Amino acid sequence: VLDRGDQLRKELDAARAAGRRVGLVPTMGALHEGHASLIRRSAAECDVTAVTVFVNPLQFNPSEDLDDYPRDLDHDVDLAAGAGADVVFAPDVAEMYPDGVPSVTVHVTGADTMEGASRPGHFDGVATVVAQLFNLAGPCRAYFGEKDWQQLGVVRSLTADLSFPVDVIACPTVRDPDGLARSSRNVRLTPQERVASAVLHRALTTAAIAVTAGECDPVVVRRLIAGIVAREPLAALDYAEVLPEAGGFRLLVAARVGAVRLIDNLGVAT
Ligand code: PAF
Repeated sequence: VLDRGDQLRKELDAARAAGRRVGLVPTMGALHEGHASLIRRSAAECDVTAVTVFVNPLQFNPSEDLDDYPRDLDHDVDLAAGAGADVVFAPDVAEMYPDGVPSVTVHVTGADTMEGASRPGHFDGVATVVAQLFNLAGPCRAYFGEKDWQQLGVVRSLTADLSFPVDVIACPTVRDPDGLARSSRNVRLTPQERVASAVLHRALTTAAIAVTAGECDPVVVRRLIAGIVAREPLAALDYAEVLPEAGGFRLLVAARVGAVRLIDNLGVAT
């Protein structure tokens, strides 16, 4: 486990100098099977896999759950090693932001919808820390989950617009048997809320069936998702969105279940 940026840089520079391919899996810890799938993919495709564990304060706004965000480094190190990681980089806040709030940050334009609308400043915080991690890691393949669909788009734009020598690899969402997308936040759900949370995936799959059957009006599809979430008393919809993408649509949903905010998305071919 490394906790200094210069150690990570040295380790990964040495690996590349020895002709080894580097994989990077950026995380905020509280690792679960979704992260394990990213780490396994990196370990299968790269010679050295570095997992970063850093709960980035810049991507939380004051009303959010920064202090409640689950943290368990011992568990994370075990899970990462078991999935094939060679290095865990777990800096503290002072290592990443020695002067407190950094005076130079990355601003993402056009990221003020969906997560950006509900969480002002969130994507600037994500882009800033990912830029730092990419700079520390150097040329690599970097693995991100499709569950955070909008984040994936932001990371792709960041990489292209700021010319990072990084290949961004998108990996499929890992789900529990009832369809709930694996998320570090799931551990904060009560047993009843955990059952209720399956409504997000149920709403998306029901809407996907309607789209496959020919329903192409985004307003109707959005209403369908919202209607299904509304029938679950423990869930409060934040947004339902339908975006065109190559070969079909991407359906996205965010809802609060109790005190926990959950997001999910699904691609549907037309
Ligand atoms: O997806 C996450 O866990 C975080 O947003 C990331 C990409 C590690 C940046 O802090």
